[in-house]
Amino acid sequence: MTNAVEAAGLMLAEPGTYTDNDRLHEGLSLLRRESPVHRVEAADYRPFWAVTRHADIMEIERDHERFRNAPRPVLSPRALDERLEQMVAEGRALRTLVHIDGREHRLLRAIGADWFRPSVMRRMESRVRELTRRSVDQMAALGGECDFAAQISMDFPLYVILSLLGMPEDDFGLMRALTQELFGNSDPDKARDLDPASATLVIDDLFAYFGKLAASRRATPTEDIASTIANAQVDGEYLSDQDVLSYFIIVATAGHDTTSGALAGGIQALAEHPEQLRRLKADPSLIPTAVDEIIRWTTPVTSFMRNAAEDCTLRGVQIRAGDALLLSYPSGNRDEDVFADPFTFDVGRTPNKHLSFGFGVHYCLGAALAKMEIAAFLQELLPRLDSLELAGEPALAATNFVGGLKRLPIRYSVT
Ligand code: HEM
Repeated sequence: MTNAVEAAGLMLAEPGTYTDNDRLHEGLSLLRRESPVHRVEAADYRPFWAVTRHADIMEIERDHERFRNAPRPVLSPRALDERLEQMVAEGRALRTLVHIDGREHRLLRAIGADWFRPSVMRRMESRVRELTRRSVDQMAALGGECDFAAQISMDFPLYVILSLLGMPEDDFGLMRALTQELFGNSDPDKARDLDPASATLVIDDLFAYFGKLAASRRATPTEDIASTIANAQVDGEYLSDQDVLSYFIIVATAGHDTTSGALAGGIQALAEHPEQLRRLKADPSLIPTAVDEIIRWTTPVTSFMRNAAEDCTLRGVQIRAGDALLLSYPSGNRDEDVFADPFTFDVGRTPNKHLSFGFGVHYCLGAALAKMEIAAFLQELLPRLDSLELAGEPALAATNFVGGLKRLPIRYSVT
């Protein structure tokens, strides 16, 4: 194994890698070519296998009996893994859909899934359109220049998901701060402090907030996801407090930074590819393929992990029971075996079998909502947009989980 391949593996654990897309993709291309199932032993992390080819990621996600989410569904430093294990033992850790497997996962997922069906999505559409109008009006009011990531795309998906959840608008600011800390906790601009234990403090705050919300929805159910979750039963029993709160937290957090990351990254891509912007403005029927291409291009979730339940081989590599495998979605989404010209941004790309929402039984619950939000934003913005360009250096957040732009200075003309 060459030093360059070893370095490419190690970089996957470094949050800073995700601030530099060129470096990231150079390393991922090398891994796909030279060592597609690659053992990484990075300081401060438990060992894991980096899986970088599209076909292998699909195979692992499809085989959910053999490759399970528990006990290590996401990459985090050893110290945080250990702290979370302690919290699990104390019964106060997050136990969301992504932490659970098998029948229990299926039953819990079914509770929330009703809310994300197309018919419910259509009912949501008018609220989403109202929020997109508000965001584009705000762009106009900002007078032709703004930091799109900080001033526009951060709030719009947050407001959508929190409205769906049934939270009062007065609490949106608090949720924004908490979810950013939870996901961006390696980035100095976002973290409470750089101690890995800070993420567990955030979880305590989220638990406290949602505990009150659950109690109020049990006392007085309303027409929102919070009431559905608080009052749901599995096998004739209400969910435990831990499961109810974890459910609120996954819905509130998973639907926020991910979608804002895709939206801001999409605006950057359109600013950097004016010919694609012109094409899309001239033919709005391309919006659905453009949305998928934006989500492939930006790949806001850098990875999820799976844990081997038994010994097996993958591409000739021996994997042992208990080994963790990191599924690199940005790599799968640039795999030359699946995508023609993977490094070309093409708003008309079809087919587009990107892995940004994962695959299989854990496939993103909010995928249709995320796509609807980005499509609604483009439908509102494009007819009102006369010009768009970068007005400074964009900056990506330093995180090895949910990535995306934290700064996107743009100059534009919006009517
Ligand atoms: C799971 C990505 C938006 C809720 C996931 C997974 C990914 C992902 C990669 C894991 C899939 C797997 O393990 O195979 C994204 C991206 C989004 C987005 C890129 C935006 C562009 C949303 C939204 C919601 C949401 C708007 C709204 C509630 C969830 C939930 C899960 C999930 C609840 C866990 C599903 C399970 O484990 O069964 N998402 N997501 N996501 N996402 Fe999203």
